[in-house]
Amino acid sequence: MTAPPRLAGRTVTGMSGRLQTWTGAVPAVARAQVAELLEDAVAGPHPETASALVASLPAVVVCVDDEPVAAAVGRERDGGFVVRALAVERTRRRSGLGRLLLDEVSLVSGYRWVEAETDRHSVEFYRRCGFSITSLGEKYPGVERFRCLRESPDQPSRRPTDGRL
Ligand SMILES: CC(C)(COP(=O)(O)OP(=O)(O)OC[C@H]1O[C@@H](n2cnc3c(N)ncnc32)[C@H](O)[C@@H]1OP(=O)(O)O)[C@@H](O)C(=O)NCCC(=O)NCCS
Repeated sequence: MTAPPRLAGRTVTGMSGRLQTWTGAVPAVARAQVAELLEDAVAGPHPETASALVASLPAVVVCVDDEPVAAAVGRERDGGFVVRALAVERTRRRSGLGRLLLDEVSLVSGYRWVEAETDRHSVEFYRRCGFSITSLGEKYPGVERFRCLRESPDQPSRRPTDGRL
């Protein structure tokens, strides 16, 4: 599988290697790796196991040299993508991969909008990636939650990618 040209020239700080994006259901052979990536994104008052999410939800996965380094799983709704869990491999954070992953959800997978719910630890990440933020208040005792929403520019409809899983 070759890297989609749309990733060529994208800058991810301090990283080399061949970037590609997969989108769709994660095949059984890759599930454990993608689930491990998402472990840090499923903590909270009502954690589901990362494995269960990866087995049941569509995903967008950014790979470097065929290794998953960033992933989002979620539900498709009305042409958009509702993120259930999203994470970047620990050693590769703060290098632009999270932003790249969200752009891939919008542009490669072709969702018209992306929505996520998060807490105060990650809300600034979404804000810096261009999301509008709305507080949902203290949804759980002592935990304020935020709804994050971004319309996808220039991609009115879903289109298949050559990186489909
Ligand atoms: C949150 C997470 C996905 C960010 O990924 P990342 O690859 O480090 O993010 P990027 O490097 O693309 O950062 C994009 C922007 O967000 C900012 N940012 C990233 N994480 C941030 C944080 N925790 N707090 C504040 N700003 C943050 C970056 O500085 C950058 O801003 P800039 O371009 O204006 O300088 C990653 O830290 C992660 O996997 N965390 C654990 C799981 C998690 O919390 N998931 C989100 C909730 S589901």
